[in-house]
Amino acid sequence: MSTNVGFDNSHFSDQVVVVTGAASGIGAAAAKLIARRGGRVILLDRDEAGLAATAEGIDREAGISESMVLDVTDESGIKSAVGEILAKYGRIDALANSAGITGPTGVNVEDLTTEDFERILKINLYGSIWLTQAVLPSMKANKYGRIVHLASIAGKEGNPGMAPYNTSKAGLIGFIKGVAKENASLGITINAIAPAVIRSNLNVATNPETMAYMLSRIPVGRQGEGEEVAELVAFAASRACSFTTGFTFDISGGRATY
Ligand SMILES: NC(=O)c1ccc[n+]([C@@H]2O[C@H](COP(=O)([O-])OP(=O)(O)OC[C@H]3O[C@@H](n4cnc5c(N)ncnc54)[C@H](O)[C@@H]3O)[C@@H](O)[C@H]2O)c1
Repeated sequence: MSTNVGFDNSHFSDQVVVVTGAASGIGAAAAKLIARRGGRVILLDRDEAGLAATAEGIDREAGISESMVLDVTDESGIKSAVGEILAKYGRIDALANSAGITGPTGVNVEDLTTEDFERILKINLYGSIWLTQAVLPSMKANKYGRIVHLASIAGKEGNPGMAPYNTSKAGLIGFIKGVAKENASLGITINAIAPAVIRSNLNVATNPETMAYMLSRIPVGRQGEGEEVAELVAFAASRACSFTTGFTFDISGGRATY
């Protein structure tokens, strides 16, 4: 079922929602919001302590969650984690994929190595591809699914000094466009989100000049908050997002207006 007119489609009651990158920042905020809206959230991240902190918040405030330690560069680990979730809960209604890293910042492209690119592409791009491949078959069988990946405004506009990150996020934006069309008639929507700078651990080590450049391009005049992005993640992961697919939603304080 892709539409449910007359119901509160932003609610997640009885839905199983997998959230990656759930130990921190946007993923943690999205997992908490989706749980507050009634979802059963499965938290995935490579950071076990961070997962425990997110889970504690959810279980205290909202309901029940389950955590699994997973490195998204481990393709077979992704397959087994998804298999385990399906065996236990019978289905995955939505995947919100927020695992990601920044990689080198403030470095010109000619000074970067193949390894610099490989490391970030493996997490930000291949991780997203493998997660999508792992959840799609059961979503197709159920004729329902929502997939939302965290891309970045860097993938649309590019930020200087961040070539591997820009490349990974532009690749992700391209990836969802075609895959969304493959699945558009099957009750499955696949979208991405492109935030500008959001206050989180991701930016702690960002080169100060690069950070100043990115902040200067936000007309609202501040960084975004994880909770603000979580609202968009929750929409794209919900039944309410039934007529938008292959799209990259901006959340950039006015930086992107197209
Ligand atoms: N914060 C920003 O300014 C910003 C802007 C645009 C896009 N994004 C994107 O949003 C997503 C979330 O970023 P955030 O700000 O919440 O960052 P964050 O650092 O707070 O959270 C990212 C999470 O991903 C996890 N992670 C990293 N590598 C992993 C791996 N190999 N396997 C499993 N988990 C892994 C980390 O442990 C962390 O919990 C990322 O994809 C990021 O690129 C962030």
